[in-house]
Amino acid sequence: MLTNLVNATYIAAGLMFILALAGLSKHETAKKGNAFGILGMVLALVATNYAIAQPVDGRGFDWTSAALLYGAIAIGAVIGAWKARRVEMTGMPELIALLHSFVGAAAVLVGFNVHLSATHTDVLHAVEVVLGIFIGAVTLTGSLVAWGKLNGRIASKPLTLPGRNWLNLAALVAVAGFGCWYVATLSLIPLLLVTLISLALGCHLVAAIGGADMPVVISMLNSYSGWAAAFSGFMLDQTILIITGALVGASGAILSYIMCRAMNRSFVSVILGGFGDAPVADSGEMGEHREVTTSDVAKMLTGARSVVVAPGYGMAVAQAQYPVAELTARLRERGINVRFAIHPVAGRLPGHMNVLLAEAKVPYDIVLEMDEINDDFTDTDVVLVIGANDTVNPAANEPGSPISGMPVLKVWEAAQVVIFKRSMSAGYAGVQNPLFFNENSVMCFGDAKATVQSILDDLRSATG
Ligand code: TAP
Repeated sequence: MLTNLVNATYIAAGLMFILALAGLSKHETAKKGNAFGILGMVLALVATNYAIAQPVDGRGFDWTSAALLYGAIAIGAVIGAWKARRVEMTGMPELIALLHSFVGAAAVLVGFNVHLSATHTDVLHAVEVVLGIFIGAVTLTGSLVAWGKLNGRIASKPLTLPGRNWLNLAALVAVAGFGCWYVATLSLIPLLLVTLISLALGCHLVAAIGGADMPVVISMLNSYSGWAAAFSGFMLDQTILIITGALVGASGAILSYIMCRAMNRSFVSVILGGFGDAPVADSGEMGEHREVTTSDVAKMLTGARSVVVAPGYGMAVAQAQYPVAELTARLRERGINVRFAIHPVAGRLPGHMNVLLAEAKVPYDIVLEMDEINDDFTDTDVVLVIGANDTVNPAANEPGSPISGMPVLKVWEAAQVVIFKRSMSAGYAGVQNPLFFNENSVMCFGDAKATVQSILDDLRSATG
Protein backbone atom coordinates (compact mmCIF):
# COMPACT_ATOMS: atom_id res chain seq x y z
CA MET A 1 0.00 0.00 0.00
CA LEU A 2 2.74 2.43 1.07
CA THR A 3 4.92 1.49 -1.92
CA ASN A 4 2.00 1.99 -4.30
CA LEU A 5 1.25 5.41 -2.84
CA VAL A 6 4.89 6.48 -3.05
CA ASN A 7 5.20 5.21 -6.63
CA ALA A 8 1.98 6.98 -7.67
CA THR A 9 3.35 10.22 -6.18
CA TYR A 10 6.61 9.72 -8.09
CA ILE A 11 4.68 9.35 -11.35
CA ALA A 12 2.72 12.52 -10.56
CA ALA A 13 5.99 14.35 -9.79
CA GLY A 14 7.54 13.10 -13.07
CA LEU A 15 4.50 14.42 -14.93
CA MET A 16 4.88 17.81 -13.22
CA PHE A 17 8.53 17.96 -14.35
CA ILE A 18 7.52 17.26 -17.96
CA LEU A 19 4.85 20.00 -17.76
CA ALA A 20 7.51 22.30 -16.24
CA LEU A 21 9.84 21.76 -19.22
CA ALA A 22 6.96 22.32 -21.67
CA GLY A 23 5.99 25.53 -19.85
CA LEU A 24 9.53 26.87 -19.74
CA SER A 25 9.87 26.67 -23.53
CA LYS A 26 7.76 29.85 -24.07
CA HIS A 27 7.76 33.29 -22.40
CA GLU A 28 4.02 33.29 -21.93
CA THR A 29 3.97 29.99 -20.04
CA ALA A 30 7.33 30.18 -18.25
CA LYS A 31 5.87 31.18 -14.87
CA LYS A 32 3.37 28.32 -15.03
CA GLY A 33 6.24 25.99 -15.96
CA ASN A 34 8.16 27.09 -12.87
CA ALA A 35 5.12 26.48 -10.70
CA PHE A 36 4.79 22.91 -12.07
CA GLY A 37 8.50 22.35 -11.33
CA ILE A 38 8.09 23.53 -7.73
CA LEU A 39 5.00 21.34 -7.24
CA GLY A 40 6.80 18.31 -8.72
CA MET A 41 9.78 18.85 -6.40
CA VAL A 42 7.53 19.20 -3.33
CA LEU A 43 5.73 15.94 -4.25
CA ALA A 44 9.05 14.13 -4.83
CA LEU A 45 10.49 15.34 -1.52
CA VAL A 46 7.39 14.49 0.51
CA ALA A 47 7.10 10.98 -1.00
CA THR A 48 10.82 10.23 -0.56
CA ASN A 49 10.92 11.45 3.02
CA TYR A 50 7.73 9.59 3.84
CA ALA A 51 9.17 6.38 2.43
CA ILE A 52 12.52 6.83 4.23
CA ALA A 53 11.07 7.75 7.62
CA GLN A 54 8.87 4.64 7.83
CA PRO A 55 9.78 2.16 10.61
CA VAL A 56 11.51 -0.89 9.11
CA ASP A 57 11.42 -4.51 10.47
CA GLY A 58 9.53 -3.48 13.60
CA ARG A 59 12.56 -1.43 14.77
CA GLY A 60 10.44 1.63 15.41
CA PHE A 61 10.92 5.10 14.03
CA ASP A 62 14.56 5.94 13.33
CA TRP A 63 14.88 9.34 15.00
CA THR A 64 18.59 9.74 14.26
CA SER A 65 18.13 9.28 10.50
CA ALA A 66 15.09 11.55 10.52
CA ALA A 67 16.97 14.27 12.43
CA LEU A 68 19.93 14.06 10.04
CA LEU A 69 17.67 14.11 6.98
CA TYR A 70 15.36 16.95 8.04
CA GLY A 71 18.26 18.89 9.58
CA ALA A 72 20.13 18.75 6.26
CA ILE A 73 17.00 19.75 4.32
CA ALA A 74 16.37 22.69 6.68
CA ILE A 75 19.96 23.97 6.45
CA GLY A 76 19.95 23.55 2.64
CA ALA A 77 16.60 25.34 2.34
CA VAL A 78 17.78 28.30 4.44
CA ILE A 79 21.06 28.69 2.52
CA GLY A 80 19.27 28.22 -0.85
CA ALA A 81 16.58 30.80 -0.04
CA TRP A 82 19.17 33.31 1.25
CA LYS A 83 21.37 32.87 -1.84
CA ALA A 84 18.43 33.05 -4.29
CA ARG A 85 17.19 36.30 -2.73
CA ARG A 86 20.63 37.92 -2.84
CA VAL A 87 21.78 36.88 -6.31
CA GLU A 88 21.73 39.51 -9.05
CA MET A 89 20.45 38.46 -12.45
CA THR A 90 24.03 38.90 -13.76
CA GLY A 91 25.32 36.46 -11.12
CA MET A 92 22.79 33.78 -12.06
CA PRO A 93 25.01 31.85 -14.55
CA GLU A 94 27.76 31.50 -11.91
CA LEU A 95 25.25 30.35 -9.33
CA ILE A 96 23.88 27.77 -11.77
CA ALA A 97 27.41 26.53 -12.53
CA LEU A 98 28.04 26.22 -8.79
CA LEU A 99 24.79 24.31 -8.28
CA HIS A 100 25.75 21.90 -11.08
CA SER A 101 28.96 21.21 -9.17
CA PHE A 102 26.88 20.21 -6.12
CA VAL A 103 25.01 17.62 -8.22
CA GLY A 104 28.37 16.25 -9.37
CA ALA A 105 29.70 16.16 -5.79
CA ALA A 106 26.51 14.39 -4.64
CA ALA A 107 26.92 11.70 -7.33
CA VAL A 108 30.55 11.09 -6.25
CA LEU A 109 29.54 10.87 -2.57
CA VAL A 110 26.64 8.53 -3.34
CA GLY A 111 29.02 6.33 -5.35
CA PHE A 112 31.46 6.03 -2.42
CA ASN A 113 28.59 5.53 -0.01
CA VAL A 114 27.25 2.63 -2.08
CA HIS A 115 30.74 1.17 -2.28
CA LEU A 116 31.47 1.51 1.46
CA SER A 117 28.05 0.30 2.66
CA ALA A 118 28.58 -2.71 0.33
CA THR A 119 24.91 -3.56 0.15
CA HIS A 120 25.22 -4.11 -3.61
CA THR A 121 28.03 -6.26 -4.80
CA ASP A 122 26.73 -7.44 -8.19
CA VAL A 123 28.42 -6.42 -11.43
CA LEU A 124 25.60 -4.13 -12.51
CA HIS A 125 25.81 -2.03 -9.35
CA ALA A 126 29.59 -1.91 -9.56
CA VAL A 127 29.31 -0.54 -13.13
CA GLU A 128 26.76 2.01 -11.91
CA VAL A 129 29.15 3.11 -9.16
CA VAL A 130 32.01 3.63 -11.64
CA LEU A 131 29.85 5.50 -14.15
CA GLY A 132 28.16 7.60 -11.45
CA ILE A 133 31.49 8.61 -9.93
CA PHE A 134 33.03 9.29 -13.36
CA ILE A 135 30.28 11.60 -14.59
CA GLY A 136 29.83 13.14 -11.14
CA ALA A 137 33.54 14.00 -10.80
CA VAL A 138 33.73 15.45 -14.35
CA THR A 139 30.63 17.57 -13.58
CA LEU A 140 32.05 18.68 -10.23
CA THR A 141 35.38 20.09 -11.40
CA GLY A 142 34.09 21.13 -14.85
CA SER A 143 31.37 23.22 -13.18
CA LEU A 144 33.83 24.77 -10.74
CA VAL A 145 36.11 25.85 -13.61
CA ALA A 146 33.04 27.22 -15.49
CA TRP A 147 32.06 29.11 -12.31
CA GLY A 148 35.56 30.63 -12.16
CA LYS A 149 35.51 31.59 -15.85
CA LEU A 150 32.08 33.19 -15.57
CA ASN A 151 32.94 35.35 -12.57
CA GLY A 152 36.35 36.27 -13.92
CA ARG A 153 38.41 34.42 -11.27
CA ILE A 154 39.82 32.27 -14.09
CA ALA A 155 40.77 33.79 -17.49
CA SER A 156 38.24 32.97 -20.20
CA LYS A 157 41.11 32.27 -22.65
CA PRO A 158 41.28 28.56 -23.51
CA LEU A 159 44.04 26.47 -21.95
CA THR A 160 45.73 24.78 -24.89
CA LEU A 161 48.15 22.21 -23.52
CA PRO A 162 50.21 20.44 -26.19
CA GLY A 163 48.50 17.20 -27.24
CA ARG A 164 45.42 18.06 -25.19
CA ASN A 165 43.09 15.77 -27.14
CA TRP A 166 45.47 12.85 -26.56
CA LEU A 167 45.52 13.71 -22.85
CA ASN A 168 41.71 13.54 -22.76
CA LEU A 169 41.75 10.25 -24.66
CA ALA A 170 44.38 8.81 -22.31
CA ALA A 171 42.26 9.86 -19.33
CA LEU A 172 39.20 8.12 -20.79
CA VAL A 173 41.16 4.95 -21.48
CA ALA A 174 42.57 5.02 -17.91
CA VAL A 175 39.08 5.50 -16.43
CA ALA A 176 37.81 2.54 -18.48
CA GLY A 177 40.78 0.41 -17.37
CA PHE A 178 40.53 1.25 -13.65
CA GLY A 179 36.76 0.92 -13.90
CA CYS A 180 37.11 -2.67 -15.17
CA TRP A 181 39.61 -3.36 -12.35
CA TYR A 182 37.06 -2.08 -9.82
CA VAL A 183 34.20 -4.14 -11.28
CA ALA A 184 36.38 -7.26 -11.15
CA THR A 185 37.76 -6.75 -7.59
CA LEU A 186 35.46 -4.21 -5.86
CA SER A 187 38.56 -2.76 -4.22
CA LEU A 188 38.79 0.91 -3.18
CA ILE A 189 42.08 1.75 -4.96
CA PRO A 190 40.82 1.62 -8.58
CA LEU A 191 37.73 3.57 -7.51
CA LEU A 192 39.92 6.32 -6.04
CA LEU A 193 42.00 6.36 -9.26
CA VAL A 194 38.82 6.66 -11.39
CA THR A 195 37.75 9.59 -9.20
CA LEU A 196 41.08 11.43 -9.38
CA ILE A 197 41.41 11.06 -13.15
CA SER A 198 37.79 12.11 -13.70
CA LEU A 199 38.29 15.20 -11.50
CA ALA A 200 41.34 16.17 -13.58
CA LEU A 201 39.48 15.46 -16.84
CA GLY A 202 36.59 17.74 -15.81
CA CYS A 203 39.04 20.59 -15.10
CA HIS A 204 40.91 20.12 -18.35
CA LEU A 205 37.83 19.74 -20.58
CA VAL A 206 36.33 23.06 -19.47
CA ALA A 207 39.64 24.93 -19.12
CA ALA A 208 40.32 24.17 -22.81
CA ILE A 209 37.13 25.87 -23.95
CA GLY A 210 37.35 29.57 -24.88
CA GLY A 211 35.07 32.37 -23.70
CA ALA A 212 33.05 32.45 -26.91
CA ASP A 213 31.98 28.82 -26.45
CA MET A 214 30.94 29.14 -22.78
CA PRO A 215 27.19 29.05 -23.59
CA VAL A 216 27.59 25.48 -24.83
CA VAL A 217 29.68 24.56 -21.77
CA ILE A 218 26.94 25.75 -19.42
CA SER A 219 24.21 23.76 -21.15
CA MET A 220 26.56 20.77 -21.50
CA LEU A 221 27.31 20.78 -17.75
CA ASN A 222 23.59 21.12 -17.13
CA SER A 223 23.14 17.93 -19.14
CA TYR A 224 26.02 16.16 -17.32
CA SER A 225 24.52 17.09 -13.94
CA GLY A 226 21.27 15.44 -15.06
CA TRP A 227 23.03 12.21 -16.00
CA ALA A 228 25.00 12.32 -12.73
CA ALA A 229 21.67 12.55 -10.84
CA ALA A 230 20.22 9.71 -12.94
CA PHE A 231 23.20 7.48 -12.06
CA SER A 232 22.73 8.38 -8.38
CA GLY A 233 19.14 7.22 -8.83
CA PHE A 234 20.32 3.86 -10.22
CA MET A 235 22.77 3.45 -7.33
CA LEU A 236 20.11 4.27 -4.72
CA ASP A 237 17.26 2.47 -6.52
CA GLN A 238 15.39 5.79 -6.57
CA THR A 239 12.94 5.94 -9.48
CA ILE A 240 12.20 9.65 -9.17
CA LEU A 241 15.90 10.53 -9.26
CA ILE A 242 16.32 8.47 -12.43
CA ILE A 243 13.31 10.21 -14.05
CA THR A 244 14.39 13.71 -13.01
CA GLY A 245 18.03 13.12 -13.93
CA ALA A 246 17.09 11.76 -17.36
CA LEU A 247 14.80 14.75 -18.01
CA VAL A 248 17.53 17.23 -17.04
CA GLY A 249 20.19 15.26 -18.95
CA ALA A 250 18.11 15.04 -22.13
CA SER A 251 16.86 18.64 -22.06
CA GLY A 252 20.42 19.88 -21.37
CA ALA A 253 21.65 17.88 -24.37
CA ILE A 254 18.94 19.42 -26.59
CA LEU A 255 19.83 22.90 -25.28
CA SER A 256 23.52 22.25 -26.06
CA TYR A 257 22.53 21.29 -29.61
CA ILE A 258 20.47 24.51 -29.95
CA MET A 259 23.39 26.57 -28.58
CA CYS A 260 25.84 24.91 -30.99
CA ARG A 261 23.51 25.66 -33.90
CA ALA A 262 23.16 29.28 -32.72
CA MET A 263 26.95 29.60 -32.72
CA ASN A 264 27.48 27.56 -35.87
CA ARG A 265 29.82 25.17 -34.02
CA SER A 266 29.81 21.41 -34.04
CA PHE A 267 29.40 19.82 -30.62
CA VAL A 268 32.61 17.85 -31.05
CA SER A 269 34.64 20.96 -31.93
CA VAL A 270 33.38 22.71 -28.79
CA ILE A 271 34.21 19.70 -26.58
CA LEU A 272 37.69 19.45 -28.09
CA GLY A 273 38.14 23.13 -27.18
CA GLY A 274 40.85 25.54 -28.20
CA PHE A 275 38.64 28.21 -29.78
CA GLY A 276 39.09 31.75 -28.57
CA ASP A 277 42.86 32.09 -28.77
CA ALA A 278 43.13 33.80 -32.17
CA PRO A 279 45.06 37.11 -32.09
CA VAL A 280 42.91 40.07 -31.14
CA ALA A 281 43.20 43.19 -33.31
CA ASP A 282 44.15 46.43 -31.61
CA SER A 283 41.34 49.00 -31.71
CA GLY A 284 43.85 51.57 -32.97
CA GLU A 285 44.17 49.59 -36.23
CA MET A 286 40.49 49.94 -36.95
CA GLY A 287 40.12 53.70 -37.31
CA GLU A 288 38.29 56.45 -35.46
CA HIS A 289 35.01 56.18 -33.64
CA ARG A 290 32.46 59.00 -33.20
CA GLU A 291 30.72 59.96 -29.97
CA VAL A 292 27.25 61.40 -29.45
CA THR A 293 25.38 62.81 -26.45
CA THR A 294 22.07 61.51 -25.13
CA SER A 295 20.23 64.53 -26.52
CA ASP A 296 21.61 63.70 -30.01
CA VAL A 297 20.20 60.18 -29.60
CA ALA A 298 16.84 61.59 -28.43
CA LYS A 299 16.65 63.72 -31.61
CA MET A 300 17.60 60.73 -33.76
CA LEU A 301 14.85 58.66 -32.18
CA THR A 302 12.10 61.24 -32.58
CA GLY A 303 12.80 61.39 -36.31
CA ALA A 304 12.71 57.58 -36.73
CA ARG A 305 9.90 55.38 -38.07
CA SER A 306 11.42 52.06 -37.10
CA VAL A 307 13.74 51.34 -34.15
CA VAL A 308 15.33 48.02 -33.15
CA VAL A 309 16.91 47.47 -29.73
CA ALA A 310 19.71 44.86 -29.58
CA PRO A 311 20.35 44.19 -25.89
CA GLY A 312 23.31 42.30 -24.44
CA TYR A 313 25.15 41.50 -21.23
CA GLY A 314 25.75 45.22 -20.45
CA MET A 315 22.00 45.81 -20.18
CA ALA A 316 21.89 43.11 -17.51
CA VAL A 317 24.88 44.53 -15.62
CA ALA A 318 23.44 48.04 -15.67
CA GLN A 319 19.89 46.79 -14.88
CA ALA A 320 18.88 49.04 -17.78
CA GLN A 321 15.84 46.96 -18.75
CA TYR A 322 13.46 49.24 -16.80
CA PRO A 323 14.38 52.56 -18.50
CA VAL A 324 14.65 50.64 -21.80
CA ALA A 325 11.06 49.39 -21.32
CA GLU A 326 9.93 52.92 -20.52
CA LEU A 327 11.74 54.34 -23.55
CA THR A 328 10.05 51.68 -25.70
CA ALA A 329 6.61 52.66 -24.36
CA ARG A 330 7.29 56.39 -24.98
CA LEU A 331 8.45 55.77 -28.57
CA ARG A 332 5.51 53.47 -29.31
CA GLU A 333 3.13 56.18 -28.05
CA ARG A 334 4.60 58.38 -30.77
CA GLY A 335 3.73 55.76 -33.41
CA ILE A 336 7.34 54.54 -33.83
CA ASN A 337 7.68 50.83 -34.56
CA VAL A 338 10.00 49.52 -31.79
CA ARG A 339 11.15 45.90 -31.70
CA PHE A 340 13.82 43.90 -29.86
CA ALA A 341 16.38 41.63 -31.55
CA ILE A 342 17.46 38.79 -29.27
CA HIS A 343 20.60 36.86 -30.06
CA PRO A 344 20.47 33.25 -28.74
CA VAL A 345 23.65 33.69 -26.67
CA ALA A 346 23.22 37.34 -25.63
CA GLY A 347 24.07 37.80 -21.93
CA ARG A 348 25.45 34.91 -19.93
CA LEU A 349 22.51 32.53 -19.76
CA PRO A 350 20.14 30.96 -22.29
CA GLY A 351 17.10 33.27 -22.38
CA HIS A 352 18.87 35.92 -20.25
CA MET A 353 17.52 38.90 -22.24
CA ASN A 354 14.02 37.47 -22.47
CA VAL A 355 13.85 37.14 -18.68
CA LEU A 356 15.04 40.74 -18.13
CA LEU A 357 12.62 42.18 -20.68
CA ALA A 358 9.72 40.14 -19.30
CA GLU A 359 10.63 41.40 -15.81
CA ALA A 360 10.40 44.99 -17.12
CA LYS A 361 7.05 44.16 -18.77
CA VAL A 362 8.12 44.67 -22.40
CA PRO A 363 5.30 43.16 -24.54
CA TYR A 364 6.29 39.65 -25.74
CA ASP A 365 5.12 40.25 -29.32
CA ILE A 366 7.81 42.88 -30.00
CA VAL A 367 10.63 40.68 -28.65
CA LEU A 368 11.92 38.77 -31.67
CA GLU A 369 14.52 36.04 -32.05
CA MET A 370 17.57 36.64 -34.29
CA ASP A 371 16.19 34.57 -37.19
CA GLU A 372 12.88 36.45 -37.10
CA ILE A 373 14.42 39.93 -37.35
CA ASN A 374 17.84 39.61 -38.97
CA ASP A 375 16.56 40.43 -42.48
CA ASP A 376 14.70 43.55 -41.28
CA PHE A 377 17.71 45.70 -40.38
CA THR A 378 17.97 47.11 -43.93
CA ASP A 379 14.53 48.63 -43.30
CA THR A 380 15.39 50.03 -39.85
CA ASP A 381 16.15 53.72 -39.15
CA VAL A 382 17.91 53.41 -35.78
CA VAL A 383 19.38 50.43 -33.93
CA LEU A 384 20.13 50.87 -30.22
CA VAL A 385 22.84 48.38 -29.22
CA ILE A 386 22.49 48.34 -25.43
CA GLY A 387 25.46 46.64 -23.77
CA ALA A 388 25.83 44.06 -26.56
CA ASN A 389 29.17 43.42 -28.21
CA ASP A 390 30.07 39.91 -29.45
CA THR A 391 26.51 39.28 -30.63
CA VAL A 392 26.65 42.29 -33.01
CA ASN A 393 30.28 41.86 -34.09
CA PRO A 394 30.74 41.72 -37.90
CA ALA A 395 34.17 40.08 -37.30
CA ALA A 396 32.18 36.86 -36.94
CA ASN A 397 31.77 36.94 -40.74
CA GLU A 398 35.56 36.98 -41.29
CA PRO A 399 37.88 33.99 -40.96
CA GLY A 400 40.54 33.85 -38.22
CA SER A 401 38.56 35.37 -35.36
CA PRO A 402 37.58 33.41 -32.20
CA ILE A 403 33.94 34.08 -33.07
CA SER A 404 34.27 33.29 -36.82
CA GLY A 405 31.21 31.51 -38.12
CA MET A 406 28.94 32.57 -35.24
CA PRO A 407 25.75 34.07 -36.71
CA VAL A 408 25.35 37.65 -35.40
CA LEU A 409 22.70 40.38 -35.52
CA LYS A 410 23.31 42.35 -38.75
CA VAL A 411 22.75 45.71 -37.03
CA TRP A 412 25.19 47.50 -39.37
CA GLU A 413 22.63 47.17 -42.20
CA ALA A 414 20.41 49.77 -40.48
CA ALA A 415 20.61 53.48 -41.42
CA GLN A 416 22.07 54.46 -38.02
CA VAL A 417 23.52 52.41 -35.16
CA VAL A 418 23.96 53.80 -31.62
CA ILE A 419 26.16 51.73 -29.30
CA PHE A 420 25.70 52.13 -25.54
CA LYS A 421 28.69 51.06 -23.48
CA ARG A 422 31.21 52.56 -21.09
CA SER A 423 34.44 52.29 -23.10
CA MET A 424 35.93 50.85 -26.29
CA SER A 425 36.78 47.57 -24.55
CA ALA A 426 36.09 44.19 -26.16
CA GLY A 427 33.20 41.82 -25.36
CA TYR A 428 33.27 38.48 -23.55
CA ALA A 429 35.21 36.69 -26.31
CA GLY A 430 37.95 39.36 -26.14
CA VAL A 431 37.50 40.33 -29.80
CA GLN A 432 37.59 43.97 -30.90
CA ASN A 433 34.44 45.06 -32.72
CA PRO A 434 34.77 46.78 -36.16
CA LEU A 435 31.10 47.85 -35.87
CA PHE A 436 32.16 50.70 -33.57
CA PHE A 437 34.22 52.27 -36.36
CA ASN A 438 31.61 52.09 -39.18
CA GLU A 439 30.44 55.33 -40.79
CA ASN A 440 26.85 54.78 -39.67
CA SER A 441 27.84 53.90 -36.07
CA VAL A 442 28.07 56.28 -33.11
CA MET A 443 29.06 55.59 -29.51
CA CYS A 444 27.01 56.82 -26.54
CA PHE A 445 29.38 56.24 -23.61
CA GLY A 446 28.30 55.67 -20.02
CA ASP A 447 26.44 53.23 -17.84
CA ALA A 448 23.52 51.95 -19.94
CA LYS A 449 20.89 52.64 -17.27
CA ALA A 450 22.01 56.25 -16.75
CA THR A 451 22.29 56.98 -20.50
CA VAL A 452 18.88 55.53 -21.37
CA GLN A 453 17.37 57.39 -18.41
CA SER A 454 18.95 60.60 -19.66
CA ILE A 455 17.48 60.01 -23.17
CA LEU A 456 14.06 59.66 -21.54
CA ASP A 457 14.58 62.99 -19.76
CA ASP A 458 15.68 64.62 -23.02
CA LEU A 459 12.56 63.28 -24.77
CA ARG A 460 10.35 64.61 -21.97
CA SER A 461 11.89 68.06 -22.02
CA ALA A 462 11.67 68.16 -25.86
CA THR A 463 7.90 67.53 -25.66
CA GLY A 464 7.51 69.90 -22.71
P1 TAP B 1 29.38 40.89 -24.42
O1 TAP B 1 30.10 40.50 -25.65
O2 TAP B 1 29.65 40.17 -23.17
O3 TAP B 1 29.63 42.46 -24.20
C1 TAP B 1 28.95 43.16 -23.21
C2 TAP B 1 29.32 44.62 -23.32
O4 TAP B 1 28.56 45.32 -22.33
C3 TAP B 1 30.78 44.89 -23.01
O5 TAP B 1 31.48 45.19 -24.19
C4 TAP B 1 30.76 46.05 -22.01
O6 TAP B 1 31.53 47.13 -22.53
C5 TAP B 1 29.29 46.45 -21.95
N1 TAP B 1 28.88 46.79 -20.58
C6 TAP B 1 29.21 46.18 -19.43
N2 TAP B 1 28.66 46.81 -18.38
C7 TAP B 1 27.98 47.86 -18.88
C8 TAP B 1 27.21 48.89 -18.30
N3 TAP B 1 27.02 48.98 -16.99
N4 TAP B 1 26.65 49.80 -19.13
C9 TAP B 1 26.84 49.75 -20.46
N5 TAP B 1 27.56 48.79 -21.06
C10 TAP B 1 28.12 47.86 -20.29
O7 TAP B 1 27.80 40.86 -24.63
P2 TAP B 1 26.83 40.07 -25.61
O8 TAP B 1 26.78 40.74 -26.94
O9 TAP B 1 25.57 39.90 -24.85
O10 TAP B 1 27.51 38.67 -25.88
C11 TAP B 1 27.47 37.60 -24.94
C12 TAP B 1 28.81 36.92 -24.88
O11 TAP B 1 28.84 36.08 -23.72
C13 TAP B 1 29.08 36.02 -26.08
O12 TAP B 1 30.45 35.97 -26.36
C14 TAP B 1 28.61 34.67 -25.57
O13 TAP B 1 29.21 33.58 -26.26
C15 TAP B 1 29.09 34.73 -24.13
N6 TAP B 1 28.37 33.84 -23.21
C16 TAP B 1 27.04 33.69 -23.35
C17 TAP B 1 26.38 32.81 -22.52
C18 TAP B 1 24.92 32.59 -22.77
S1 TAP B 1 24.29 31.15 -22.55
N7 TAP B 1 24.17 33.58 -23.17
C19 TAP B 1 27.07 32.12 -21.51
C20 TAP B 1 28.44 32.36 -21.34
C21 TAP B 1 29.09 33.24 -22.22
P3 TAP B 1 32.17 48.23 -21.53
O14 TAP B 1 32.98 47.48 -20.52
O15 TAP B 1 32.98 49.11 -22.42
O16 TAP B 1 31.02 48.96 -20.91
